Amino acid sequence: MYTQSFSVPDEPGQKHIKAVAPAEPAELMAKFDARIDSDGRIEPQDWMPDAYRKTLVRQISQHAHSEIVGMLPEGNWISRAPSLKRKAILIAKVQDEGGHGQYLYSAAETLGVSRADLLDALHSGKAKYSSIFNYPTLNWADVGTIGWLVDGAAIMNQVPLCRCSYGPYSRAMIRVCKEESFHQRQGYEALLVMMKGTDEQKAMVQDAVNRYWWKCLAMFGPPDADSPHSAQAMRWGIKRVSNDDLRQKFIDATVPQAKVLGVTLPDPDLKWNEERGHYDYGQIDWDEFWNTVNGNGPCNKERLSTRVKAHNDGQWVRDAALAHARKQQQRAMKEAA
Ligand SMILES: [Fe+2]
Ligand SMILES: [Fe+2]
Repeated sequence: MYTQSFSVPDEPGQKHIKAVAPAEPAELMAKFDARIDSDGRIEPQDWMPDAYRKTLVRQISQHAHSEIVGMLPEGNWISRAPSLKRKAILIAKVQDEGGHGQYLYSAAETLGVSRADLLDALHSGKAKYSSIFNYPTLNWADVGTIGWLVDGAAIMNQVPLCRCSYGPYSRAMIRVCKEESFHQRQGYEALLVMMKGTDEQKAMVQDAVNRYWWKCLAMFGPPDADSPHSAQAMRWGIKRVSNDDLRQKFIDATVPQAKVLGVTLPDPDLKWNEERGHYDYGQIDWDEFWNTVNGNGPCNKERLSTRVKAHNDGQWVRDAALAHARKQQQRAMKEAA
């Protein structure tokens, strides 16, 4: 952990970081720019422009929300996993996602926001999270497909973030990416086993791939031409690779994997372009993407109500942990006195 995520604030809602009043903004700005230009890291105690801080809070908190909401579609399958081995793997994966959420909320807290406020924004439906988790998981092949494609897309998105200019975020991403790579491999391996099975099992895999392929491509975000904030995020070293470049990288890496697996990717326009040295692909349905991001996907309401219930059910755990931490703190203070 990089932060004080489990210490007890002196008063509720206390900010961990005092906002630094820029006495000489131009000088501070120049120092900040120089650090960014030399590919250095910005740390929580460093001065940073307000817009940089806000961009990071938004991005890191949306990332954290995506991790913990992402536990839900697969969590549904823990009690229905086809074997003890698959159940153990799935439990480990879903727990990892919970851990990713924790690292990320901690990273966001170093920017002076409180975890409680971020969770309130998620639970009230104000905050956004990855649209992919608002679709149902209909059969066991969906679990394998999520590992292969959704976690695969997450890796493509997250590996460049290991070089993000904000120190706590970039360091959190290093461990997250290692775990994502296990998620991707377990999913692909589960599908390989199914593809050696009955015709019905093979059809389940193809059906799951058909339903998830386009949604995974949309996970990389709108095309570069429609991403007005991308240039600034690139300038600040928060974003290292553009949406379209990452999407292309994902497609180029995934097509050969689909061939080995023996499934067809559901895009008649998907073909190798010798001149570009990349695969061409068809049109993504952005209306569906925005509809889901804005709360109207097939499972948005169900996901949020499950999340709110889980949060409320866990209140006693948080109360007990805080009471324990307070007791420890008092004991330490008494000993020090
Ligand atoms: Fe994750
Ligand atoms: Fe994952």
